[in-house]
Parts: sequence; C-alpha cells; structure tokens
Amino acid sequence: MYIVFLISSGVLHAVVCLHNRKFPPGFQFGAATSAYQIEGAWNVSDKGESICDRFSRDHPELITDKSNAEVACDSYRKWRVDIQAVQDLGLDFYRFSTAWTRLLPTGFSNEISKDGVNYYNNLINGLLEKNIKPIITLYHWDLPQRLQDLGGWTNPLIADWFEQYADVVFRLFGDRVKMWVTINEPLLMCDFNYNTGTLAPRIKDPDTATYLCTKHVLIAHAKAWRLYDRKYRHKYHGILSIANHVVWFDPLTPKHEDEAELAREYTVGRYAHPIYSKEGGWPKVIEQKMTEYSKKKGFPTSRLPAFTPEEIKLVRGSYDYFAINYYTSRLVRKALPGDEAAVFFDTGAPELGLTFIKDPNWPSGGHNFIPSYPKGLRSIISWLKQKYGNLHFFISENGYGNFDSGLDDYDRVEYFHQHLEQVLHSIHDDHANVTGFTAWTLMDNYEWLSGYTLRFGLYHVDFTNPERKRTPRASAHYIAKTVKKRTLETPVKKQHTQSQAQNGKSKTNVNLFCLLISVTVIVCTKYF
Ligand code: BGC
Repeated sequence: MYIVFLISSGVLHAVVCLHNRKFPPGFQFGAATSAYQIEGAWNVSDKGESICDRFSRDHPELITDKSNAEVACDSYRKWRVDIQAVQDLGLDFYRFSTAWTRLLPTGFSNEISKDGVNYYNNLINGLLEKNIKPIITLYHWDLPQRLQDLGGWTNPLIADWFEQYADVVFRLFGDRVKMWVTINEPLLMCDFNYNTGTLAPRIKDPDTATYLCTKHVLIAHAKAWRLYDRKYRHKYHGILSIANHVVWFDPLTPKHEDEAELAREYTVGRYAHPIYSKEGGWPKVIEQKMTEYSKKKGFPTSRLPAFTPEEIKLVRGSYDYFAINYYTSRLVRKALPGDEAAVFFDTGAPELGLTFIKDPNWPSGGHNFIPSYPKGLRSIISWLKQKYGNLHFFISENGYGNFDSGLDDYDRVEYFHQHLEQVLHSIHDDHANVTGFTAWTLMDNYEWLSGYTLRFGLYHVDFTNPERKRTPRASAHYIAKTVKKRTLETPVKKQHTQSQAQNGKSKTNVNLFCLLISVTVIVCTKYF
C-alpha cells in the first residue's frame, strides 16, 4: 500500500515539475522587427523621408560603424525570405512595423502610396498563407520628417496626425490584422531621445520636450485606440495596446525600497498609469514630485503637463492588452552629490533625486546599456499585476545584443532560456495572465546608434553580401525547438562555458528540488 503511495506521490511531483516547464495551451511565440531597421529602400518609389533617414544620412559620424539603413536587411525586396525565416522557426506570429512615410509619403493621409500598400499587403498575405499571424506596430520611431519640422511629438497636433495615419492603416489591413501595437516604447522615444539628444530627431531638451512627448504619445495612442474601438472593432475584432519599455528597479539595499518604488512609478507608471489604472492620469506621487521640482527650478507650472479631465477620460482604459518590452533592470539609491549628470533610466532621474546602478554581475554581451537580469521580468509582471490587475500581458520584445556575428550564440540561447523560465514562473507561480513571447529580433538589423555592429538576431545577416543572406543561429534552433515542444528544456550546449554550466546547474537544482519534495512527502506520510 505504502509502496503504491510512494510511487504515485513521486510521480505526482514529477508531473507538477514538468507542468511548470510547460507553456499553457494557446501561448504564442513570435519574433519582431521594425520597418526602419530592416526594410531599406528608403527612397524607393514615392516613399517620404523620415527622421531616421535624415539623421543617419546627415550624421554618419554618430553611428558606430558610420553606416545607415538605406539597404539594411533589404526586406522591402526580401519579404518572402523573411516569411520563410519565420515559418522555419515554427513561430505563431511575426511582429513588424509599418513605415509611416512608406504609406503616407507626405506624413498626411491625403496621399496614400500604392507601392507602400502593395508591400504591406504582400507581407500580410504571405504570412497568412503560411498560417502566421501578423502583428503590426504602427509607429517604431520613424516619424515623417515633415511632421518633425512641425514640432514632431512636442506638438499636440501630432495626436491627430497619428490618428489619421492609424485610420488609413486600420482601413487597409484591419480585415486581416487582428493584433496591433500603436506606438513602440515611448520611454525611448521621449525620455531617451530628448534627454540625450543622440538619436533622431537629435534634439536635447530634457526639461520640456521629454514631458510634452510623454503626454502627446499617450493622447495619440488613446485616439488611435478609440478610433479603432468606434469604427473597426465591430467588424474586425482586433486588439490594441501601446508597447511599453518596462524596466525593473530593485533597491540597492533594503533601505532604498521607497526610492525603487519611485523609480518604477516614474519610468513605468508614468506611461502605464494613465492608461491602465482605474483613476487614470499621472501617478500621484510623480505628479507631486514633478510640481515640486519644477517650482524649485523656477518654472511657473509643472514640466509634466497636466491632463484635462476629458484627456484623463480619453486615455484611461484605452487598451485591450498590456504589451511588455523587457530587456533590463537597475538598482536604485538616493542620488548623492556628484551624481548630477544622471539622465533617463540608464543612470538616474535627477527630478526625483534618484541614481540607477547596473549590477556589475549582470552579463551584458558587451552592450552595457541593457545588462541581463531575467528575474526582473517576473518582478515587473508581478508589479504590473498588483498595480493594474491581472491584465492580458503579452511580451512584445525581449532580446540580447552582442558584438559577435557568429552563429554559435550560446549566450543569447541562455538569455532567452532564462527569461522564458521567468515567464513560466509568472504564469505558474504568480498566476499572471501572460499569453505570448516575442523575441527581438528575427534577424540582425540596423541597431540605431550601433549600426550593424551590435547584433540581436536569431538569424545572422551577412551585410557584406548583396543578397543579405540570413542564416539561423543556435538561438534560432533553440527557439524553434521550444516552440515545437511548448516546453522549456535546458538548451543543448556545444561548449561548456561557465554561464552554461550555471544553466545545467539550474536544471539539476529543479530535479533535486522535485526529488527532495517527493522524499519529504514520503517521509511525512510514513512517520506522522
Ligand atoms: C527597440 C528596438 C531595438 C532594441 C535593441 C528595443 O527597445 O524596440 O528597436 O533594436 O531595443 O536595442
């Protein structure tokens, strides 16, 4: 009798452990790219000029390898190859962005490019033929230059222009595209761009432009969401979200928890609270700190522009799911004299008197801006769940960059493995409703200020070859296997590096843990 019980409890625990490594039914895997980073063909046909075209043409000296994206992965011509690449990985979806200037050459919706429409129709139809779900991002940083000349994201009219552009895209492709991202990473577009002035449109104005941009992005997103809701939802039944770049903040020591929470509200809450919270508007604590800081600096009003009651209503609830782009985390402490130069989520928030620190133990692939801290993904999902409820969470980007163009990218394999492990913890242990995972990126592409030197791709792209040949890396094989099995398995290792050894260790730990629990249950049952 006991023997039967012993065996069955052992089996039961093995089943639980196995279950915890499984992705739930319906969980979707995909990969993402963005128009400017892959398409090339920057001036083909009637395409208009974007701020990215202008920036890389005028300022090659600011790009690590002095390159531009005039050809990039040549996806404008190679869309069939891209679809094949997605299919070869067995992915459920492909997230790409439409280039505003390819569809609306002037930036305004009175002129629509036939070639632009053809290009995206081909891509969408080609994906659907292979049973791959297209997910469209309407805006991934490539603003029409003409709109920039009118003030870009600092001009409140941008919200209407974006809504008009969105209207065209919904009308053209909404019958076939059922999942949308309105705007990619306002944190980068507003905070990074206007704090550093390094990326297009190359305007450094941390005091004002950053926060005008923050507000206008939220209004633009909400207008597009409401438009879809009013005009298209009843016939197309799609879902929309904005993709937030979420950073997790741990306190440097337990006594810095208040500062860490402030950093979360400033960096994540500022873009999420107006949309996902019940009351809407800015997080109260941020509103208050920004008013105090602005006053101290001699501004008559807060630099964080107030929402009107109508705007609060417009933005609040403008979501169908929560798109999470997660790459990295930071440790937080109070700013000390000498930390003054802190800007943006990389090094701190002077407005709040916070300093952000990268834990030197987090591996980075040589790109120290986004060191890897997998646990941060689970923590930020828990935080969002606790703040805004158990929403429909969808990981719209997660990826690892390095300066190695080889195919044996076991560091990237490990990165994905460890992050997927955290996704499973979120699902099975925290009961978060996470429904999908997107690898950034399908293939090496134009990595903004790093040009072609920094690689994120599941596929290696040979940028010296006119054909821009794509070759799957070890990470592509790993993802393909995970998608096929829908279970997380410890990756096969070719070389036994130290970090891979840790991977092996974590699997052994899981097994040991299962064994230990089984034995404990057995002993308890027998003797108590
Ligand atoms: C952006 C991508 C970029 C990636 C790696 C993400 O935040 O959405 O465009 O390539 O980071 O830097």
